[in-house]
Amino acid sequence: MNKIVYLNGKYIKFKSAKISIEDRGFQFSDSVYEVIAVRNNNFIDINFHLKRLRRSLNQINIKYIFKYSDLIKIFLNLIKKNKLKSGLIYLQITRGVQERSHSYIDGLTPTIVIYTIFKKFNDNINNIKCVKVITYPDLRWLRRDIKTVSLLPNILAAKAAEKKSAYEAILIKNGYITEATSSNVWIVKKNVLITHPSNSDILRGVTRDRIKILINKYNLKLNEKKFTKTELYKADEVFLTSSSCFVTPVIKIDNKKINNGKIGKLSYNLAKMYISIT
Ligand code: PDD
Repeated sequence: MNKIVYLNGKYIKFKSAKISIEDRGFQFSDSVYEVIAVRNNNFIDINFHLKRLRRSLNQINIKYIFKYSDLIKIFLNLIKKNKLKSGLIYLQITRGVQERSHSYIDGLTPTIVIYTIFKKFNDNINNIKCVKVITYPDLRWLRRDIKTVSLLPNILAAKAAEKKSAYEAILIKNGYITEATSSNVWIVKKNVLITHPSNSDILRGVTRDRIKILINKYNLKLNEKKFTKTELYKADEVFLTSSSCFVTPVIKIDNKKINNGKIGKLSYNLAKMYISIT
């Protein structure tokens, strides 16, 4: 099938979608993005994503004015054109095109690209996939709360994980866990769920927010605090959350087994609850 993408107001064939070599997204990663899951023909937490998109744009002063309903219309058109039932919508907005210069000209016309990606989710409650991960230094800049495409430290860490046949790399800054290359990290200790506070050290995940709502709803215990690599290794349970991995339990970190290599009770329950509401 010929995949259709949305580029700057037009629906075109994937192969025909081209941007300028002087697009600032290409040259400087002067650009933000969102990844939105579609499951059984429904968006997952679309409003959270669009709110975060608006925030990311504001934080780096890209003037892309949009109505939620207009973007949703484009997403629906792409879902239809590409016959997507389950998968991801990828949206990227760059500052636009100008002659190469580090500082940007105000008022450039942003470049907008949206397309769909087929994906099978970790959503079989009778067979939740559990993963092995590695730890890796967090080499990123200091504004990880902005969802920019400046992902070089993330991709190097992800490659290091792949080389060790691991699913993800959990990132460590000054002895503390921040998050993973493309997901948030949670641990469970004595029935308390622990995750890094949402400040500029991590991306405030939409899935993380949704899990917090579930924790609240089911009166589970939550402590948003920084935790160390030792606490990670000694956790009763560990899991990752993101729009593409949902709730994915971790059963091995480096050479250390978690929960004897088995899925933990809270991880399983949260994975199940998350799937049931999406
Ligand atoms: N990644 N932290 C980082 C660094 C991320 O890149 C992501 C998402 C998350 C989880 O955010 P959310 O729950 O909103 O998906 C946390 C997406 C899936 C990606 O880059 O493909």
